[in-house]
Amino acid sequence: ASQTLLLLPGDGIGTEIMVEVEKLIDWTNAEGLTDFSTDHGLVGGAAYDAHQVAVSEDDVEKARAADAVIFGAVGGPKWDNVPYEHRPEAALLRLRKELGVFANLRPAICYPALAEASSLKRELVEGLDILIVRELTGGVYFGEPKEITDLGDGQKRAIDTQVYETYEIDRIARVAFDLARTRSNKVHSADKKNVMKSGVLWDEVVRGVAKDYPDVAFEHILADNAAMQLVRNPKQFDVMVTDNLFGDILSDAAAMLTGSLGMLPSASLGAPDPATGKRKAFYEPVHGSAPDIAGKGIANPIAMIASFAMALRYSFNMIELADRVDAAIADVLADGLRTGDIAQDNRKTVGTEEMGAAILAK
Ligand code: NAI
Ligand code: MG
Repeated sequence: ASQTLLLLPGDGIGTEIMVEVEKLIDWTNAEGLTDFSTDHGLVGGAAYDAHQVAVSEDDVEKARAADAVIFGAVGGPKWDNVPYEHRPEAALLRLRKELGVFANLRPAICYPALAEASSLKRELVEGLDILIVRELTGGVYFGEPKEITDLGDGQKRAIDTQVYETYEIDRIARVAFDLARTRSNKVHSADKKNVMKSGVLWDEVVRGVAKDYPDVAFEHILADNAAMQLVRNPKQFDVMVTDNLFGDILSDAAAMLTGSLGMLPSASLGAPDPATGKRKAFYEPVHGSAPDIAGKGIANPIAMIASFAMALRYSFNMIELADRVDAAIADVLADGLRTGDIAQDNRKTVGTEEMGAAILAK
């Protein structure tokens, strides 16, 4: 039976970079390497223009039924003033929630050809390959109470609440340890157990999970020290697992060790289905819809293509094909091909289509 992909290009450059993924899918299908059937949906401003919502119930249903969802980017000035509940980003939050994707995988890879573009010295980042596993559906972004109370006399009180339960920590830790086994067998768990009760529980549960993975090296690290070490000596890390808030910050910091926003893919995975073992999954570039360059054909398609490679790897276990796509990206960079966002000095740059075609040719 064929495997189904739901493609949600969204807005701005989302539509331009998705085209390059579609060409890749057509090719792998034609070569008999995959048997994907693709469907399309609208999200963000595009969905709002068509249906006055950020994502239609129909498309939510399609996302639930698909083997993997490939998402471009949403948003743009045109929709800055739509009702809050229909703002483009609402599509992302809704889909993440509907799919229950609690594990956000954010690789930070430094392609040797781009080491000069890093904010760090070449020897610190060259060959860097770390994976931050961020808890995505719990913690302080969702905990209740969450409110601002008026205290009178011009004083207010703001409250956010960090809440984690054992099962939430256990399942994200298992994702991290499982992934470490497919990489360099090392997990760091970052929390603030020195000042937070949620950190104490986090550490207790992760240590318990670590006992089930005696072959994987495990180390605890305080989240602030993790930030420092990421900048001081990032290559000491393989997989880092952490909560929603620390993961948001640490993954952005790690990402920027490697160059441009246009290079960064991500995956978000749900729990395995008890019957089939298959996880719901959502793949998207880290960047947004880039309204400043939308429609010009100059967006970097690499983050989008690398997100598709993550789908091959994590949803379909097509490791060899995923490796080939990643190698093709490294190859075109080594050949000196650059879109504007990753161009050094005044080198000639290529557009979205040319970059996509070059990767496909490799
Ligand atoms: P952005 O990521 O869209 O752009 C930031 C800067 O990076 C811009 O200068 C842009 O041209 C550049 N850039 C980003 N991706 C690129 C690529 N693939 N190739 C070349 N250059 C690239 O973030 P910004 O400007 O803060 O937000 C723009 C819109 O996107 C807003 O409406 C925002 O809400 C939305 N957004 C959506 C996200 C999503 O769909 N997941 C994530 C972040 C922002
Ligand atoms: Mg962030």
